Amino acid sequence: MLTSKIAGIGCYVPANKITNEDLKEYMDTSDEWIQERTGIRERRYAHRTEETTTTMAVEASKIAIERAGITAQDIDFIVFATLSPDYYFPGCGVLVQRAMQMKEIGALDIRNQCSGFVYALSVADQFIKTGMYKNILVIGSEKHSFGLDFSTRGRNISVIFGDGAGAVVLQATEKEGQGIISTHLHSDGHSAELLAMYNPGTHANHWVKEPLADYIDAPIGEMFMSKEMIDKAQNFPFMDGPAVFKKAIVKFPEVIMEALIKNGLTTADINMLIPHQANLRISQFVQQKLALRDDQVFNNIQQYGNTTAASIPIALCEAWQQGKIKEDDLVCLAAFGSGFTWASALIRW
Ligand code: COA
Repeated sequence: MLTSKIAGIGCYVPANKITNEDLKEYMDTSDEWIQERTGIRERRYAHRTEETTTTMAVEASKIAIERAGITAQDIDFIVFATLSPDYYFPGCGVLVQRAMQMKEIGALDIRNQCSGFVYALSVADQFIKTGMYKNILVIGSEKHSFGLDFSTRGRNISVIFGDGAGAVVLQATEKEGQGIISTHLHSDGHSAELLAMYNPGTHANHWVKEPLADYIDAPIGEMFMSKEMIDKAQNFPFMDGPAVFKKAIVKFPEVIMEALIKNGLTTADINMLIPHQANLRISQFVQQKLALRDDQVFNNIQQYGNTTAASIPIALCEAWQQGKIKEDDLVCLAAFGSGFTWASALIRW
């Protein structure tokens, strides 16, 4: 039977380091507040004009493809997860296809924010299991720094997010017991507006009245940003941080346990949990709830902040590079974020 294994993994973060101290130049915040609430010490910001979500993705992809021992010409399909695409449309998948001079293969963009990479991996896994494709490039990449509110008004969000990219080559294998064991995808749209960027969009304030109406309001014909919308900061993401936190600490353990139970495994079988790097406090809560040892969980949010769709592949890449993931290890990926959507994947490395 065909399964999919991660044949190569790569990651890329911009050189430009932004510390918590640096952010104090723009907003009323402190290193102490940010570290205490999120664990974040610094993050990377892409070059304003020379780096995009796609160019970072290409750098990560080159490494993943080389480590898989193949060339860009061998890639059969691209699945690209991002919430910060280069263009409103088309998606970043086609830009990678062009930049890497690939064949005229299919390219699919996934819009599932923080759980985007696990969703992307799951989609790619299905194509491989059916025998349709052999080598799929799965990418998560974000350039958040282009669209955050760096005034005090936006500080609850802007201190959290960073830029970067990660990619894997998912490859068909017949080796028994290796590769993706199962993936588990969920959503609950009732809280869609609690972590969202409403504009540009076609909603014309259809979904939500008070109290978010003023924040969301987009008059018909002005979905591509009127001056008034910009003045009211309606062009920036919105997050109800405490509500996200409360839901995340329930759904992370739930979706991890779902994956383990489905496969007759327990938390003791996990060699490495790679949680989406939303907030160090969330990861610590999940670790404690599942009674996992420190060596069973990998976190690097301290250096990179929350890079949304890129956070899991960057963390997976670093854990592997540091020798913390070895052949035959049971790796669990778990994510939660905007939508809300949440997901997990179990992989035998
Ligand atoms: N620096 C200093 N003060 C800040 C701040 C910042 N960067 N951001 C918010 N504050 C202030 C608030 O204005 C508020 O002040 P007030 O009490 O005078 O009104 C106070 O800190 C507490 O705000 P609150 O939002 O209740 O803080 P919190 O303890 O919930 O922490 C988050 C905020 C965002 C860190 C936390 O809610 C969180 O991590 N949520 C989950 C976010 C997440 O994971 N998002 C990604 C999802 S994938």
